[in-house]
Amino acid sequence: MAKNIAVIGTGYVGLVSSVGLSDFGNYVTAVDVNPEIVEKLNRGIPTIYELGLEDYLRRNLESGRLEFTADIDRAIRNAEIVFLAVGTPQSENGEADLSQVEQAVGSVAKNLNGFKVVVCKSTVPVGTNRWVKGRLSELTGESAEGPDPAFAVVSNPEFLREGKAVQDFFHPDRLVLGYEAPKAREYMEDVYRALNLIHVPMVWCGLETAELIKYASNAFLATKITFINQMATLAEAAGADIHVIAHSMGMDGRISPKFLHPGPGFGGSCFPKDTRALVSTGDSYGVDMSLVREVISANEHMKGLVVNRLLKMAGGAGALKGKVAAVLGLAFKAETDDIRESPAITIVQRLLDEGAEVQVHDPEALDNFKKLFGDEIRYFEHEFDALKGADALLIATEWNEYRNLDLERAKAEMRGNLIMDARNVLEPEKARSFGFAYKGVGR
Ligand code: UDX
Ligand code: UDX
Repeated sequence: MAKNIAVIGTGYVGLVSSVGLSDFGNYVTAVDVNPEIVEKLNRGIPTIYELGLEDYLRRNLESGRLEFTADIDRAIRNAEIVFLAVGTPQSENGEADLSQVEQAVGSVAKNLNGFKVVVCKSTVPVGTNRWVKGRLSELTGESAEGPDPAFAVVSNPEFLREGKAVQDFFHPDRLVLGYEAPKAREYMEDVYRALNLIHVPMVWCGLETAELIKYASNAFLATKITFINQMATLAEAAGADIHVIAHSMGMDGRISPKFLHPGPGFGGSCFPKDTRALVSTGDSYGVDMSLVREVISANEHMKGLVVNRLLKMAGGAGALKGKVAAVLGLAFKAETDDIRESPAITIVQRLLDEGAEVQVHDPEALDNFKKLFGDEIRYFEHEFDALKGADALLIATEWNEYRNLDLERAKAEMRGNLIMDARNVLEPEKARSFGFAYKGVGR
């Protein structure tokens, strides 16, 4: 049976989940503190860019199964299930900042007018769901134990990738559901019936296990990327080709070919934050997460490495002083305007520190980058304008349009001939045939 659901928070995860859960036939009221966001969403205008999101948003608004509101009390009172999808940003000391979760739990306590399942979708450190359970008992005087609990808590971490979030929501590799009360499991089976019918595996486990699955997955993927990045550096030093190495490694079913693309280091809103939070969780349990710690620092090193290599091509220390460096690609990966923890930030800063003048282009992320660097650098809507008069080119994001870069025109626009291709989007031989001194990563 379809469920009445409240979703608290309409950020990336909250919005995609709201639209997806209503598409599964549930009745969803999504809450955001920001009235402007609420108003826009009720008019069917997405507040984030995600492929397919607008269609799903409109369709479910029209069906009457989805609405947005700033009235959190009403949304919770009408709901049988409350999804928490508020932000869990990183605080000063690397731990996750849970103040938004705490606030939402306060609202649930205030409006607990019957049995409700509280589902945590935000990425929260291990122990948070048990804390939510305790806190709700404390605030309401009700119990979550026994055959007829007053409420229940479920940990249901989300694995959405930016740019593929809608597709990921409807076709997840698996659903992870940490729970304790059998009644909570029955409710969640109803919510996700549509996915069960297409045989999406459901992992039913304890609260702590579910919480750690999310961090373990993200940290493992971050480790995989860092591993291939270090291998790329070695392959290059030894005269080997990292693409053939990664491809052959991936043929081993135990390894899988995914997340073995070398680059300038991982960025984004999740991997950097979640790896740091995992180290900090380890610290609080007295467990040394030394491997993850090393991944974080190796990744930082990676971001600077591509600039070091460009410097070397230019003639060594100080060689970029007064030169013009063009950077193509600012987003942390292609198909997004997101620049959070993007390697391009470190790259541009390092180029400035080296005394270079920096000219940048990105199809989507220019505005976000302007907020960060202001008039320290020059911004261009067209890639060839960014290349005008440049002594060197550094490609930092794997946008498709850079793969087909007109190299003849690029050569004509540029003053110099250096290319550092940090994403291996160009063909080395072809670039060299146009007179470029070309370097990629790991080949
Ligand atoms: C969040 C977590 O931060 C991340 O760790 C997890 O992996 C996925 O969920 P995201 O959905 O991108 O990420 O969060 P964010 O973009 O910060 O959105 C939070 C939304 O909740 C905002 O729209 C904010 O206005 C809203 N909010 C916040 C509320 O409605 N109420 C609050 O009390 C706090
Ligand atoms: C990630 C996880 O994939 C997702 O499951 C989780 O819910 C949120 O974090 P996202 O941050 O959107 O998603 O991007 P992702 O595609 O995973 O890329 C992360 C970073 O790793 C990017 O900077 C990307 O360029 C880099 N990357 C990824 C590589 O350098 N090489 C690869 O092979 C894959």
